[in-house]
Parts: sequence; C-alpha cells; structure tokens
Amino acid sequence: MEGSLGFLFLTFLIIPLPHFFIFCTGHSHSPSQLRCIDTERRALLKFKKDLIDPSNRLSSWTVDGDCCHWVGVVCHNLTAHVHQLNLSTIYPSDSATEEQYEAYWRSVFGGKLNPSLLDLKHLNYIDLSFNNFPASPIPSFLGSMKSLTSLNLSHAGFVGVIPYQLGNLSNLLYLNLKSSSFHFHGLYVNNLQWLSGLPLLQHLDMSGVNLSKDSDWLQLTSTLPSLFELHLSRCQLPFIPLTPTVNFSSLLTLDLSGNYFENTLSPSWIFGLRNLVSLDLSHYYFQGPIPIGLHNMTSLRHLYLSGNNFNSSIPNWLYSFSRLEFLNLRYNNLQGTISNAIGNLTSVISIDLSFNELGGKLPRSLGNLCNLREIRLSSNKWSQEISEILESLSGCLSDRLEILDLSYSQLHGHLTDELGLFKNLVKLHFSRNSISGPIPMSLGNLSSLTILHLSHNQFSGTLPQNFGQLSKLKALYIESNMLEGVVSKSHFSNLTRLKKFYAFGNRLTLNVSHDWIPPFQLGYLSLRSWNLGPNFPTWLCSQRHLQNLDISNTRISGVVPPSFWNLSSQFQFLNLSHNLIHGEIPNSPIIVSTSVIDLRSNYFNGSLPYISSSVIALDLSNNSFSGSISHFLCYKMNEPKNMELLNLGKNLLSGKIHDCWTMWHKLEILNLGNNNFTDNIPASIGSLTLLKSLHLHNNKLSNKLPSSLKNCKKLVIIDLSENKLVGSIPSRIGHRLLSLMTLNLRSNNFHGHIPEELCALTSLQILDLSHNKLFGSIPRCVKKFSAMATKSISYLNMDFYPGLILMVNLSLLKVHCL
Ligand SMILES: *[C@@H]1O[C@H](CO)[C@@H](O)[C@H](O)[C@H]1NC(C)=O
Ligand SMILES: *[C@@H]1O[C@H](CO)[C@@H](O)[C@H](O)[C@H]1NC(C)=O
Ligand SMILES: *[C@@H]1O[C@H](CO)[C@@H](O)[C@H](O)[C@H]1NC(C)=O
Ligand SMILES: *[C@@H]1O[C@H](CO)[C@@H](O)[C@H](O)[C@H]1NC(C)=O
Ligand SMILES: *[C@@H]1O[C@H](CO)[C@@H](O)[C@H](O)[C@H]1NC(C)=O
Ligand SMILES: *[C@@H]1O[C@H](CO)[C@@H](O)[C@H](O)[C@H]1NC(C)=O
Ligand SMILES: *[C@@H]1O[C@H](CO)[C@@H](O)[C@H](O)[C@H]1NC(C)=O
Ligand SMILES: *[C@@H]1O[C@H](CO)[C@@H](O)[C@H](O)[C@H]1NC(C)=O
Ligand SMILES: *[C@@H]1O[C@H](CO)[C@@H](O)[C@H](O)[C@H]1NC(C)=O
Ligand SMILES: *[C@@H]1O[C@H](CO)[C@@H](O)[C@H](O)[C@H]1NC(C)=O
Ligand SMILES: *[C@@H]1O[C@H](CO)[C@@H](O)[C@H](O)[C@H]1NC(C)=O
Ligand SMILES: *[C@@H]1O[C@H](CO)[C@@H](O)[C@H](O)[C@H]1NC(C)=O
Repeated sequence: MEGSLGFLFLTFLIIPLPHFFIFCTGHSHSPSQLRCIDTERRALLKFKKDLIDPSNRLSSWTVDGDCCHWVGVVCHNLTAHVHQLNLSTIYPSDSATEEQYEAYWRSVFGGKLNPSLLDLKHLNYIDLSFNNFPASPIPSFLGSMKSLTSLNLSHAGFVGVIPYQLGNLSNLLYLNLKSSSFHFHGLYVNNLQWLSGLPLLQHLDMSGVNLSKDSDWLQLTSTLPSLFELHLSRCQLPFIPLTPTVNFSSLLTLDLSGNYFENTLSPSWIFGLRNLVSLDLSHYYFQGPIPIGLHNMTSLRHLYLSGNNFNSSIPNWLYSFSRLEFLNLRYNNLQGTISNAIGNLTSVISIDLSFNELGGKLPRSLGNLCNLREIRLSSNKWSQEISEILESLSGCLSDRLEILDLSYSQLHGHLTDELGLFKNLVKLHFSRNSISGPIPMSLGNLSSLTILHLSHNQFSGTLPQNFGQLSKLKALYIESNMLEGVVSKSHFSNLTRLKKFYAFGNRLTLNVSHDWIPPFQLGYLSLRSWNLGPNFPTWLCSQRHLQNLDISNTRISGVVPPSFWNLSSQFQFLNLSHNLIHGEIPNSPIIVSTSVIDLRSNYFNGSLPYISSSVIALDLSNNSFSGSISHFLCYKMNEPKNMELLNLGKNLLSGKIHDCWTMWHKLEILNLGNNNFTDNIPASIGSLTLLKSLHLHNNKLSNKLPSSLKNCKKLVIIDLSENKLVGSIPSRIGHRLLSLMTLNLRSNNFHGHIPEELCALTSLQILDLSHNKLFGSIPRCVKKFSAMATKSISYLNMDFYPGLILMVNLSLLKVHCL
C-alpha cells in the first residue's frame, strides 16, 4: 500500500524523467514495480485512438495508467522501454462453434495504425495477426522501426502493394505477411529486391501474397544466409526454376504448396536440400510417379504431397524415412497396396492417404507404429472386414490413436468390442461403408470422442444405452442406417456438448417425457423419419441455438406450441413437413425469417403467416391455409424479396392474387395451384424475370393472360390448366419463351387459332391445349417439335407423322384439316 502511494507521488513530480524515477525508487529490478516511459505511454494512447476495438479489449489502456501493465504491452524488465506489442486475436480452431466464430469477429481490431508507434524506439516485436484492418495497405512507416526483430502481420486484413521500405528493417529475424487465399485483391509485390536488406532474416512467410510479378524469388530468398523457414504457399508463383543447385545453406522448412506451377519437371534443387526437415509441395500439379529425387531427403519429418497427380504405388524407399512424423499423400492417384514395410516409419505421428486408388488389406505392421495419433485412409478401396482392421490396429497405437478415418472405403462386416480399446479417439469416421450388425457397447468407453461418423452403413439394432457417457461428443452422425428401437433420455444423459445430431433415415422412436429438458443446446438436428409423435416434441423449445431442424415425417400430430415459433428467427432451415400437425401459425403477424421453410403436407390452417423478405424458399403446400393472400404478398411491398421458391399449392386460399409481385425478382418457382383464387392473373407477374416454373392450375382465374408474361423469358413450365381464362393464346409465348418445355392450358376458355409461333418452341415436350374453344388447323410445323420426338414420355400419341411421338393433347380441339 505504502509503496504504491509513493509511486503516485513520485510520478507526479518527475514525469519528464522516467529513467531517473526508476533508479531512484530503487525497485528497478522488480518488474511489477516498473513504470512505463511517458513518451511511450502517450504514443500508445495515440495509437489506441486510431484503432477500432469493438469489444474494448484495450480497456486497461487508460490515460493515467502504467503502460507496462497494459494488455498486449511488454516492457523491458530493466529499462521499462516498451519492447513488445501483441495485439493478435486468437482465431477459433476448426472445430469451433458458430458462436466462437462470431465472438472472434466481435473482438478483432480494425481501424488505422497511427505512426505514433515510431516513438517506441525500442520496440522489437509487433504482432497484429488475425485482425481486420479493413482493406488498407501496410503502412510504410513500419519500415522505419529499425529496432524491430519480429513483425507479424499475418491475416491482419491488409491489402495492396507491400511497402519496399520494410527492406530497411535490417534487424528483422521474423517476418510474417501471410494472408488468406480468399482475398482476391490481397497483398502483392512488384519485386522482392527489398528482401536483400534483411540479412538476418530467419523466418519468412508470405503465403497468400501475389508474387506473380517476381521471377527472382528463388534467387532473392536463397541468398538470405540465416533463413531456415520459408513459406510461399498460394503465391501464384509463375514457375519453379529448374536451376540444378541453390545455396539455401540453412533452410529447414520449405513450403511452396498451392502454386500450381506451370512446369511439371522435377526441380532438382529442391531434392538437393538434404537438411530439409519439412517440405510442402501439395497442390502443385505434379504428374507421374512420386519423384525419386525425394529418395535422399531422409531428414524429413514433414512431407506434404497432397493434391498432386501422383499415379505410382507408394515407393518402398519412402518407408525408410525413419524420422518422418507427418506424411500427407491425400488427393492423388496412388495405386497398389500399402506395404508391410510401413512399420519402419517408427516416428510417424500422422498418415493421410485418403482419396487415392489404394486397395488390398491394411498391413498389420500399422499397429506397431506406437507414435501414430492420426490415420486417414478414407476414399480408397480397402474392401476389408472392419473387425480385421481394428485387430491390426490394436497394437501399441490403439490407446493413443486420436483420429481414425476409414469412411468411403468399401468396408464390411461387424464392429467388434475391440473398438473399446481405442480409448483416446477424438474423431472416428466410419461413414459410407457397408458395416452391419449392432453398434457395440464398447463405444461408450471412448470417452474422448468429439466427432463420430457412422452414417450410411447398415448398422442395425438399437442405440447402445451408454452413448450417454460420451460427454465430449460435439457431433454425432448416424443417419441412413437400419437402427430401430427406443431412444430415451439416458442415451443423452451426459451429452452436454452435443451441437450436431444427424440421425435421419432410421426407424428409431424417441421416448422422452413431455417436460424433458435436454442437457445439450443443438445447432443442427435431423431426425427425419423417426417416430417422435404423437405430440409435438416440446423439448425443442429449449434449444435456443438451433439453426437447422428437420423433423419431417416423424408422425407428429397435434399443434406446435407457440414458444416454438418464437425460435423461428434463429432458424436457417426448418422442415416440419409430412406430419399430421394441426392448428394455425399463431399470433399473426409473426415474422418468420428462416431461409428455408418446409411445412408441406400437414394440416396447418388459418391464414398465411407474414414472412420476412430474407426467406429463400417456402413450401406450405398441401395444408389447409385459407383466406386471402394479400397480407402475405403485399407485406413490405417495396422491400426486395429473397424468395426463390414459393409453393402455396393445394390449400384453401381464395380471393384475388394481388398485383404485388414487383419486388419478388428472385422467384424461380411459383406454385399457387389447387386453390380457389379468382380474378385475373396480375400484370406484375411480368417482374418475375427469373421465373422457370409457374403453376396456377385448378383455380378460378379468369380474364386474359397479362401481356407482361412475355417478360418471364426463363419459363420452362407453364401450367394454367383448369381455370376460366379467356382470349386467344398469345403468339408472344412462341416468340419470347424459348425455353418452354411444358405448356398446359387445358380446360380453360381460350379461343381462336393455335398460333403458328408456337412452332418456335423447339424444347417443348408437353403441350396440352385440350378442353378449350380453339379451332382451326394444327400448325404444320408440329413436326418441328424435335424435343417431343426424342423424348419417350408419351402423353398422347396422335400419329400425325409416322414415328413421331407427340405429347400433345389436342383431343377436344376442332381439328379441320389433318
Ligand atoms: C529480465 O529479462 C531477462 C531476459 O528476458 C532475464 O534473463 C532476466 O532474468 C530478467 N530479470 C529480472 C530481474 O526479471
Ligand atoms: C499475444 O496475444 C495473444 C492474444 O491475447 C495471446 O494468445 C498470445 O499468447 C500472445 N503472444 C505472446 C507471444 O505473448
Ligand atoms: C504470428 O502470428 C501467428 C498467428 O497468430 C502465430 O501463430 C505466430 O506464432 C506469430 N509469431 C510471432 C513470432 O509472433
Ligand atoms: C532506408 O532508410 C534510408 C534512410 O534511413 C532511406 O534513405 C532509404 O530510402 C530507406 N530505404 C528503403 C528501402 O526504404
Ligand atoms: C496477381 O497479380 C497479377 C499481376 O499483377 C495479376 O494479373 C493477377 O490477377 C493477380 N491475381 C490475383 C488473384 O489478384
Ligand atoms: C553458399 O553460402 C555459404 C554461406 O553463406 C557460402 O559460404 C558459400 O560460398 C555459398 N556458395 C555458393 C555456391 O554461393
Ligand atoms: C501416370 O501419369 C503419367 C503422366 O500423366 C502417364 O504417362 C502414365 O501412363 C500414368 N501411369 C499410370 C500407371 O497410370
Ligand atoms: C542419393 O545420394 C546418393 C549418394 O549421395 C547418390 O548417388 C544418388 O544419386 C542420390 N539419389 C538421388 C535420387 O538423388
Ligand atoms: C524395414 O526395416 C527392416 C529391418 O530394419 C529392413 O530389413 C527393411 O529393409 C526395411 N524396409 C524398408 C522398405 O525400408
Ligand atoms: C470399458 O472399459 C472398462 C475399463 O477400462 C472395461 O472394464 C469394460 O469392459 C469396457 N467396456 C466395454 C463395453 O468395452
Ligand atoms: C455423467 O457424468 C457424470 C460426471 O462426469 C458421471 O458421474 C455419471 O456417471 C455420468 N453418467 C452417465 C450415464 O454416463
Ligand atoms: C371457392 O370459392 C367459392 C366462391 O368463390 C366458394 O363457394 C367455395 O366454397 C370455395 N371453395 C373452397 C374449397 O374454398
């Protein structure tokens, strides 16, 4: 207490002399007593002013604070000069939840970098990685910060040309300018000459920077005498030089992945880098066999060759790389089998051979690779008994393995209790095989499991009770199997972290009490074709983060509880179709903003709900919605709608179809058929210029077709049958709607001739003009309906021309001269 009071007092007196202050307090050796230098403090405050800090991460940076204790600031423990500035944001891992990604985006820094940083004369470390400095260039003043030894601007959002002034940072050891590949107009260089000003550089990462203008990159990087790590991934390097030798004297790590070099000859200088520990040539367009040139690179611990076009077998010499830890040959065309010699890779930690043409049996020696944590072998042709594989792997690696991927592998047989040996499995992928029999009880022993894929197999029997023990499980995929029986709350008892549960296509029955509150908060759930009925599963109302829900065809009757609709704003995808659900969508107007809503084939009644403009697809067909459509159609009339599919067919809707279509630009499929609509087809239907499919059949629509229909040039199907439409068939249909395949005007009151212009509809397959008041001759050109001639679906064979099958129904037409 006393000490800190003394602090304040002295600071007040001696502001301009911070050094003196430190010495005279006599505490200079205790970092907690250090007080930062005032000019530096002010420089930092200025710097903060220009930053955008949406989640107030820099709340400790207060005007009168001690900057040595500020978040992200590290002072030297003797001089109190600011040495490090670390404002990086932690990017969520691959398995992060949506909330974690959102939290990330809420906490990134943005804004501008104020040149006040130049006042931090002793700053040697800057890390601004994973932020979002919005689309601005890297400021050139950074090139004047001579004291810098480490500059990390990776994924910071900068774009534009990299300032050559960085070449003045002659003390730099570490430079990271990596950026993401989806920045089309990201960072680029005109040349890399400035690199020669960084003679001490040890680590250089320019992945994602557009280097296509620099043809000297190899020359320039290889003369950096201390460089041991070089990453030039996704740099659009124009070619890879074929010089025989390059003097990369200290290089240990070389990453040239994702450059799609135009030349495909093996660059021998790479194979001369005998000391290399890590080599990444993935996504590189290599053809032919795995290059023999790698043969002597036995120091390699990391070898990444995925995404090439290697079509040999795995060469035997590769198995002698006894130091290899990470081997990735994913996405090639590798043939043959895996040799038992793979057991010689005694250091290996991760093997990825997925997406190749490998076959045969997995060698038993795999089980002796005691360091192995990850095996990915999916999408090959192992066609082996799964139990045999588990047995092979049951050696020393079994209780250390964390990732096992054997999906899409033509495996068959039964899963045995041996599975329980793999106690540390975190991810297990067995989907898309032909594995049958029950899911073994021993699965419950895999207590580290976070992701489990068993989908698209032939598992039968019921879900083992002890599923509920898998307390770390985040994603469970068991869809498309033959599981049956009852699933109860004990199956979920400890699944507190479950976020994704896909289980459709099984015959399981969920039996939980009406007031069950699940331990999880799901984001994705599909129980399609389970038995969830007869009551609506009210426990769903507890799921506050549900985005995708499919409980279609689950024998639910009764009504949807109102609190369920309150969740609707969080849904992206909602499918309650093919149930027996009754009742109204309550409290209209409710705004359903889900992107895709499928409530078809239920017994919903009452008036249509109000729908937000963001909905993309809505299917309410085959229900009992009644009354007018006007509030639905004309709600927020001037707001552009996102709707692409609207199906209100087969309901009890009535009244006029209002003229409110001008903002429904994106509509491609519109079905209002099988209702009781009256009056004319509104003119604004012509605004639907992307419309492909128009179904207004079986209503009581009258009057003429609107001439604006000719604007819907993308139309493929028009079904206006069974209405009371009048007038002649507009010749414009033939002129303008050239994609038309189906034109059904049957059972209306059209009159007059069949226009010759219909002959222009060369794609037409179904033309039904029957039950109208048409007369005159059938246009001679009917033989030109070439599509009809080649398709074999016969709607009606009129035998006009021998061999020509017509799908034209003209039966009740008064045909004069045939
Ligand atoms: C100061 O830092 C240096 C290097 O970081 C360290 O070796 C030294 O022990 C530290 N001194 C004190 C007093 O903390
Ligand atoms: C930099 O800051 C981030 C985020 O606060 C932190 O995770 C990381 O450990 C820091 N790095 C160093 C070298 O202190
Ligand atoms: C640079 O940033 C990346 C990403 O945050 C991090 O992995 C790396 O350790 C940082 N390196 C240095 C030296 O700051
Ligand atoms: C490096 O700095 C000097 C002066 O300090 C300046 O003249 C020169 O142009 C700078 N060079 C680069 C490449 O920025
Ligand atoms: C990379 O730079 C070249 C030359 O400036 C340019 O033609 C190309 O479009 C750039 N690529 C991207 C993805 O921006
Ligand atoms: C390679 O680099 C080393 C160390 O910088 C140097 O001694 C040697 O002369 C260079 N060799 C060639 C061929 O450039
Ligand atoms: C491998 O690819 C090369 C180059 O595309 C081709 O010439 C060769 O016939 C292929 N070999 C095999 C076994 O498919
Ligand atoms: C491997 O090294 C040996 C001896 O140094 C050499 O004779 C042989 O040609 C090299 N092999 C390849 C493929 O480079
Ligand atoms: C594997 O190791 C054994 C014994 O060390 C050795 O005889 C054999 O040649 C090795 N096989 C390969 C392909 O390296
Ligand atoms: C689960 O593990 C325990 C202890 O490790 C063992 O006794 C039990 O048999 C295992 N259960 C199954 C079903 O494998
Ligand atoms: C759930 O976890 C708790 C605490 O980890 C444990 O005591 C309980 O036995 C577990 N229940 C089941 C069914 O696994
Ligand atoms: C259709 O509307 C007519 C009146 O226009 C009415 O008599 C009839 O009951 C309605 N039919 C249905 C199914 O709503």
